[in-house]
Amino acid sequence: MVDKAETLDRGELARIRADFPLLARPTPGGQDLVYLDSAATSQKPDPVLDAEQDFYIMRNAAVHRGAHSLSNEATMAFESARGQVASFVGVEADELVWTSGATAAINLVAYGFANATAGIGPSAAQRFALQPGDEIVVSEAEHHANLIPWQQLAARTGAVLRWFGVDEQGRVRVDESATVITDRTRIVAITHVSNVTGAITDLAPVVARAHEVGAYVVLDACQSVPHLPVNFRDLDVDFAAFSAHKMFGPTGIGALYGKRDLLADLPPVTTGGSMVEVVTMTEATFAPPPGRFEAGTQPVAQAIAFGVAAQYLSELGMAKVAAHEAELAAALLSAVAIEGVRVIGPTDPQDRIAVVSFVVDGVHAHDVGQVLDDAGVAVRVGHHCAQPLHRRFGVAATARVSASLYTNEHDVECFATALSTVRDFFKVGEAYG
Ligand code: ALA
Repeated sequence: MVDKAETLDRGELARIRADFPLLARPTPGGQDLVYLDSAATSQKPDPVLDAEQDFYIMRNAAVHRGAHSLSNEATMAFESARGQVASFVGVEADELVWTSGATAAINLVAYGFANATAGIGPSAAQRFALQPGDEIVVSEAEHHANLIPWQQLAARTGAVLRWFGVDEQGRVRVDESATVITDRTRIVAITHVSNVTGAITDLAPVVARAHEVGAYVVLDACQSVPHLPVNFRDLDVDFAAFSAHKMFGPTGIGALYGKRDLLADLPPVTTGGSMVEVVTMTEATFAPPPGRFEAGTQPVAQAIAFGVAAQYLSELGMAKVAAHEAELAAALLSAVAIEGVRVIGPTDPQDRIAVVSFVVDGVHAHDVGQVLDDAGVAVRVGHHCAQPLHRRFGVAATARVSASLYTNEHDVECFATALSTVRDFFKVGEAYG
């Protein structure tokens, strides 16, 4: 149940929208833009845009390298941003590694396991070594970024991929944890929130069962961190990945959380400058985490702007963000509850976010997207990088609307109006002579 006292009032929402300059631009066709593609990427508020520009204008210098005060200033801002993002997800700064995005974060873990299996790294890294026949568990709801790296790890190590199915509403069948996760399971890599169905995974039984058998839990938190209060420590996951660009930050940066003792033993994957202690012509010792995983020049301006994005959301309060978006989820579900439209995902607003994928009978998703775009409504169409989930529901493609903090009732009304014209536009159901 949404606590009304927690939701945004109209004035607050108008002020928030004014922070996002892109929302005020018209579409190329001259309509007001109705942006309902925030699950793909969010728009950026002024404080984030300003932070990135301010870094280049006032503080641009290499971090952790220079002997000069400008470099010290840049380093302090870079590390302070790490603290802001870490605290936003309930962890410590030294447990948060910058990556180029969530995909890179998940690959970092998967290839760390592969390196350990190949005998690379200190003896402590052997805790991550896989044997042929060991099991890696995912779910049918994963987007490709949290599926293919594990397929590749299985191919490299002889491990076997298993998965949770989803029910008719697209919810991960966590009730099957006791059978899907076995004594051979070493890794459980699972989505927190599906980017297709919007369903929130009930993680508690999965994490409990995984830890009971000694498996590590890797959480894909791309769609949860921007929309819900998330605390990785409370969830007790071992690793978690998320990206900045879906939570008002820049593209090109994301983060990997890892429990401190796990990051300490995980072999690095990308090697080079800045991640080392002592280097000879034949070998190198590595810096402690998180620097060990941050080879080469880092996306400093982006990290600082990522910190500002986390701060922007923290100041509003994630409970309030979630309450506002719960109202939007209900409104979007009402908008698609019309004849000839089928939702792929939960049809009730409980335990889901405001991401709604749907098919319109007799009309290809790309055509749906075209009609909506002609009305100024931006949505995503296709398989949303989640082909297995679409296959599960017997469809090749869906149209997807996804909201964010800045989405308002007017956006949903414009979408509903445009959607109501789609079947007529394509004369679905009419006899052709
Ligand atoms: N996973 C992103 C999306 O859902 C790319 O659009």
